Amino acid sequence: MEAKTSSRKNPGIITIERHILHEQESFPDATGALTQILYSLALAGKLIASRTTRAGLADILGSAGEENIQGEEVQKLDIYANRTIVQLNNHTGRLAVMASEEEKDIIPIPDRHPTGKYVLLFDPLDGSSNIDYNVSVGTIFAIYRRKSASGRGTLEDVLQKGADVVAGGYMVYGSSTMLVYSTGNGVNGFTLDPNIGEFLLSHENIRLPEPGKYYSANQGYTKYWTEGIQRYTRWLQGEEGAPRSLSLRYIGSMVSDIHRTLLSGGVFYYPSDTRDPKKPHGKLRLLYEAVPMAYIIEQAGGYGSTGRGSILDVQPTDLHQRTPLFLGNKDLVEKAEEFIAEYDD
Ligand code: AHG
Ligand code: MN
Ligand code: MN
Repeated sequence: MEAKTSSRKNPGIITIERHILHEQESFPDATGALTQILYSLALAGKLIASRTTRAGLADILGSAGEENIQGEEVQKLDIYANRTIVQLNNHTGRLAVMASEEEKDIIPIPDRHPTGKYVLLFDPLDGSSNIDYNVSVGTIFAIYRRKSASGRGTLEDVLQKGADVVAGGYMVYGSSTMLVYSTGNGVNGFTLDPNIGEFLLSHENIRLPEPGKYYSANQGYTKYWTEGIQRYTRWLQGEEGAPRSLSLRYIGSMVSDIHRTLLSGGVFYYPSDTRDPKKPHGKLRLLYEAVPMAYIIEQAGGYGSTGRGSILDVQPTDLHQRTPLFLGNKDLVEKAEEFIAEYDD
């Protein structure tokens, strides 16, 4: 039987450091600060991966008392991930301010450290409710230029539109650990070789395949969805006059669901629902979940929508505000907007 040749030409051995440096060359006024921030996120990914791939073990060892074998206090993984990213970035003089899903307010750069011209937003561990079931989890990040002139960054520096992102991406800790990022020139994926501790280029210039293969949503909430979303879901299943039906995949870790959507094509959506009147805009957070993932999907030729317009055009007003989210192939996401416009408005 003829060996199946990979459809991707072998990019050779390109480490993420070499790739980021090469990307930096397309920014004439680059000082290397953005490059260093991306390096620090890659390092955070290696540290977090080393913990998430033995979470169950750590829990068993940690449960022997308050301390685990390294003599450390047992950390919840998302707190560990959060602490790792903050500590790798709060003293480098490259950031004006940070913000995290895990922290109520913005994270100022300590007075004893210099500030810089970038802003880092992140979800340190996405999908953490799944970690105990050995389901993939991830880290999501977005980087902006500061808006304030100097000194400690402000909330205004953090509440920027996704259209102004300068770099974004995610790590996914699954069957392998991958880092996927963009600085505005397309999307590239790197796989961690744990034997040498390097992220190596494995998915060059990722483009959303057409036509999209899977739809991805938590259909357990169907009865709480609007009529437009219920009809849209039936359309994806081949009803409502649809030309074809898509297969369903839902992991419940957004990073994994969107990573699969990026590589297979399709649509991921987490719409608003009527379960909790206190959360009328769905569960996912705009700043450090929806925006970075919409940025990546759009850099790969897709589209990210709130259901009524581009995610990247939303002007944030609150650090942890939530938004409905539709990400994937443009035709599939625009179809959702059509159903919402026709039945929900
Ligand atoms: P986080 O773990 O950062 O709070 O995010 C979890 C999110 C996201 O990963 C996923 O898409 C969604 O929760 C799943 O929610 P449901 O269980 O309601 O489907
Ligand atoms: Mn999350
Ligand atoms: Mn999280």
